[in-house]
Amino acid sequence: MFRFLTAGESHGRGLVAIVEGVPAGLALDEEYIARHLKRRQGGYGRSARMDIERDRAEILSGVRHGLTIGSPISLLIRNRDWENWQEVMAVSPVEREIEPITRPRPGHADLAGAIKYGLGDIRPILERASARETAARVAVGAVARRLLQEFGIEIHSHTIAIGGVKAKEGRNIDWAQFEKKVEKSPVRCADPDAEREMMAAIDKAKEAGDTVGGIFQVIATSVPIGLGSHVHWDRRLDGRIAQAMMSINAVKGVELGAGFSLAELKGSQAHDIIHFDKAKRKWHHASNRAGGIEGGITNGEPIVVNAVVKPIPTLAKPLPSVDMKTGEVVEAHFERSDVCVVPSAAVIGEAMLAIVLASALLEKFGGDHLKETLHNYQGYLDSIAKRS
Ligand SMILES: Cc1cc2nc3c(=O)[nH]c(=O)nc-3n(C[C@H](O)[C@H](O)[C@H](O)COP(=O)(O)O)c2cc1C
Repeated sequence: MFRFLTAGESHGRGLVAIVEGVPAGLALDEEYIARHLKRRQGGYGRSARMDIERDRAEILSGVRHGLTIGSPISLLIRNRDWENWQEVMAVSPVEREIEPITRPRPGHADLAGAIKYGLGDIRPILERASARETAARVAVGAVARRLLQEFGIEIHSHTIAIGGVKAKEGRNIDWAQFEKKVEKSPVRCADPDAEREMMAAIDKAKEAGDTVGGIFQVIATSVPIGLGSHVHWDRRLDGRIAQAMMSINAVKGVELGAGFSLAELKGSQAHDIIHFDKAKRKWHHASNRAGGIEGGITNGEPIVVNAVVKPIPTLAKPLPSVDMKTGEVVEAHFERSDVCVVPSAAVIGEAMLAIVLASALLEKFGGDHLKETLHNYQGYLDSIAKRS
């Protein structure tokens, strides 16, 4: 089973992750993980924090001479910004009294977290609720996608809306032709007109002391038929993907394939007609409104997930709030913050999808060494071809 835990505060010494269940024999290096961490750090609308950090995950265990050895993989990402926060985030008690944060930001974990954990200071809550933690998830996601690559599965993402500006191509587009443009785009959008308007929307929000959200799309290609299962609620892959996406900070809506638009269609318009290619002995569908999953099981089409990212809650022009110490109406807390995080959230979405798929793939094919997993996988593909 592929599973992981992360630890670390936004301005603490660093983030750590322990990844378990990766078979032995998988080529893995720090450069590969660093490439994905860099993609997460990019995106128009991020704060100056991203100029400070140069995220790099050090592999502390589980890899020897460039190959995984089957034992837990531990990863460490040091926070460069820690230097500036050593007193505020010191592990040991400090001499000086640090001013507590008591003005909760609407839309953040501040109020609910401070009350739940019985804290008079919001700092410990915001430190862990911060999406800085997702750097560790992207590092774990890089391990997962490295594994998926061995099975030909690739994961991509792009932005389809920011601040009310929608990409012309709309939803469920063919990914391949867009990839190069997307990777070059500061907002991960392949449509140049929309890209310009999205950047203008971000600039406008920034000038007004405001923030903007949007929608990103994540796509997994070459996924075999048969990952996930219909037999239990928690084995349905659509449910697992939705949970993984919704766990990304600020994601407030998730849809698979045609998603919410299915509400307006008739059954005859909504479903994907099944075909069988006799020459290739392969099943396929005439369309992909199901987003690659039927009955909680992958159906061989690309997995297509859209996720809504809300406008982030820390505003340079803060909303009203109530001081937790005095009960007075005040302006909510402000500290250095992003204006738009949709492009970064898309990269995090890739990582979460990779993690869910790696986990589902290992559940189905098992194996302690990659060769064994690949052998099992090939045996399954051969058996499908024979049966079909
Ligand atoms: C990549 C990324 C960066 C984020 N940066 C900020 C930020 O700078 N300021 C902020 O208030 N929220 C930011 N957020 C959103 C908060 O982490 C999130 O809104 C908060 O944890 C509350 O959780 P919820 O919105 O999921 O309910 C970011 C989210 C992501 C995905």
